[in-house]
Amino acid sequence: MDAASSASWKSSKSAFFVSLSVFLFVAIGACLPIKAQTASFHNAPATAEQTKNPYAGKHAAAQAGANLFARHCASCHGPSGGGTGNIPALAKGPTQSAADGAIFWFITQGDPNNGMPSWSSLQEQQRWQIITYLKALGGTNPPLPKAKIGAAPASSSADTAAPPNAPFTDYRLENPGTVRKITVQDLPQPFATKSANNGPKVMARPNDAWPKTLPGFSVQQYASGLNNPRLIVTAPNGDFFVAESEPGDVKVFRGIIGDAKPQQVETFAMGLKRPYGIAFYPPGPDPQWVYIGTVGAVVRFPYQNGDLKARGPQQHIVDVPDGGGHWTRSVQFTADGKKMLVAVGSGSNVDDPDTTPGEKNRADILEFDPDGSEMSVYAYGIRNAGGGIAFNPATGELWCSVNERDGLGDNLVPDYITHVQKGGFYGWPWWYMGGNQDPRHVGKHPELKDKVITPDVLLQPHNASLEIAFYEGKQFPAEYKGDIFASEHGSWNKSSRAGYEVIRVPLHQTGHASGEYEDFVTGFVLPNGNVWGRPVGITVAPDGSLLVTDDGSNSIWRVVYTGK
Ligand code: HEC
Repeated sequence: MDAASSASWKSSKSAFFVSLSVFLFVAIGACLPIKAQTASFHNAPATAEQTKNPYAGKHAAAQAGANLFARHCASCHGPSGGGTGNIPALAKGPTQSAADGAIFWFITQGDPNNGMPSWSSLQEQQRWQIITYLKALGGTNPPLPKAKIGAAPASSSADTAAPPNAPFTDYRLENPGTVRKITVQDLPQPFATKSANNGPKVMARPNDAWPKTLPGFSVQQYASGLNNPRLIVTAPNGDFFVAESEPGDVKVFRGIIGDAKPQQVETFAMGLKRPYGIAFYPPGPDPQWVYIGTVGAVVRFPYQNGDLKARGPQQHIVDVPDGGGHWTRSVQFTADGKKMLVAVGSGSNVDDPDTTPGEKNRADILEFDPDGSEMSVYAYGIRNAGGGIAFNPATGELWCSVNERDGLGDNLVPDYITHVQKGGFYGWPWWYMGGNQDPRHVGKHPELKDKVITPDVLLQPHNASLEIAFYEGKQFPAEYKGDIFASEHGSWNKSSRAGYEVIRVPLHQTGHASGEYEDFVTGFVLPNGNVWGRPVGITVAPDGSLLVTDDGSNSIWRVVYTGK
C-alpha cells in the first residue's frame, strides 16, 4: 500500500470509500506484476509505460473519472465499460493489465482509423482520472463510484440529420415491409463521410413503446428481466436454450402458454466465460451433448432430451483463439455430424494478420472434428461471423451473418449475409466487397484481389448483423418458407442509427438470395434517436412463431402470425 492510499484509508469515514480504497489497492496491486510481462499496449512506447498515474488509487479521482467516463466513453464502451457490439470492454481484458501510462498514451492519440477517437481534447488530469476509474472497474468488489445522474449527455439524436441517400437508410425510414437492396455499385468512396461516434445510450422501454411488425403479424413479450440474453436456439425437443453471456449462464425456457409466457425456466449451466454459440450433438432428434462456444474454448455438457440442468460436468473440447476483440463464438454441426464449425471474429477492426500474431485463425470460420481435433480453416477473411452461422436446411449450404469493418464513413463497409463457399476468401482486412482495397492496407496482397467473394446480401453498413434462422415453421404464410430472419443489433459507427431491427431475407423458395432484404420488426429506436431495444438472437419455435432475444430491454419477443 503506498502512502497516498494508506492516508485515504485512515481518513475515510464512509464505508463506501473504505471499500473502494481497499479494492483500488487490490486492483492496482494485482496488476503490477502483470505489467512487466505483457507486451506493450497498442505499441505504447516504453517511456509512456513508465509514466506514473498521479491519481492512482485516489477515490476522488475515480469519482471524477466515473463522471467523465459516462460523458465521453460510455456510449461506445458501455455504461460499465463492458464493451458494446464490436467495441472492446475496458473493465476487463487488455486495459486491465496495461500500465496506466500506456493507456494514457493510447487514449491521448486514439486510433481514429479503427473508430477510437483521440482524447487529447480532455485535460491531462481528466485523462488520468478516467484511467483511475477504469482500474477501479476492473476489480471484482463493488461498490464502484457511480456517475452522477444526468452526467451522461442525451443520446445523440439524428432526427435533424439529412435524409439518407437510398439504398442506404437509417432508423427514421426503417419500416416493416420495406424491401431494400444494396449493390457494390452503390458504395461510396472510403472516408466520403467522417467516421461517426454515435453509440446508443440504451434507456428503459417507455410504456408506449413496443416492437412494430407487418399487418397480419403481432409482437408479444415472451420473457423479461433477463440478464444480457444473446443467442437463442430451439432444442430438438422444442425447449429454447438462451445464452446469457455477461453473467455466463445458459438458460432453458420451456413451452409457450397462456399470455405467450414460458411454462418453466431453469438455468442449465453457470460460470461459463461469455457463452454464446449453442449446438446439439449429434444432429437429429436424440442429442447426447450440448456444445457451447465460450470466448476462449468450445465446451460441452452431457444432455438428454428434456434435461433442464446439465446432467454432468462440463468437458473441454478445444481452445479457440482469444485475446480481445470480437468474442462471440457461433457453433454448428454439419447434418452428417462429421464436422463442427466455429466462427471466430477478428481481434481488431482491421489489423493486418501478416504482422499481428493475435489475428492468427481469427476472422475465419474454423472446422473441427466433433472431438475438437483436425482443425482447418473452412473460410477466411470474414471479419466477424461469430454472431451467427447456420446451415440452410433446403440446400445444406452454410450461411453466415457478418459484421464488417468500421472507420471508413457512414456507408462503408456493408455488413452482410451470405452462403459460405468452402475455402472462400471474403476480403478482410485487405479488401472488401470484391476487389475494393481497404485504404488502410494499400498495396497489400494484390494476388487476392480477384479471389474476394462478393457476399449474397449486402446490408446497411454498421448495423451489426447477428444471429440468423431459416424459417421452416408452418405458422407464417407459405411465401415465408425457407426464408432467413436475422437480428440486426444496431450501429454506433454511423451518424444516424441503422439496424436495431429484425429483417427477412427472402430466398424466393429457391434456397438462394437475390440480394434483397426486408424490414420485418422495427421500433426499438424512438423518433428522437434514443434506443431501448437491441435484437441479438433469433429462432423459430415449434409452433412456427419467431422468438427474438433483445439485450437492450433484456427480454425475449415473440412474433406470431394472426391472419390477414
Ligand atoms: C466512438 C466510439 C468510442 C468512444 C466514444 C470511445 N472509444 Fe475507446 N475505443 C473505441 C474503439 C472502436 C476501440 C477499438 C480500437 C482498435 O481496434 O484499435 C477503442 C479502444 C479503446 C481502448 C483500448 C482497448 C483494448 O482492449 O485494446 C481504450 C483503453 C479505450 N478505447 C478507452 C476509451 C476511453 C477512456 C474513452 C472515453 C474518454 C473512449 N475509449 C471513448 C471506440 C470508442
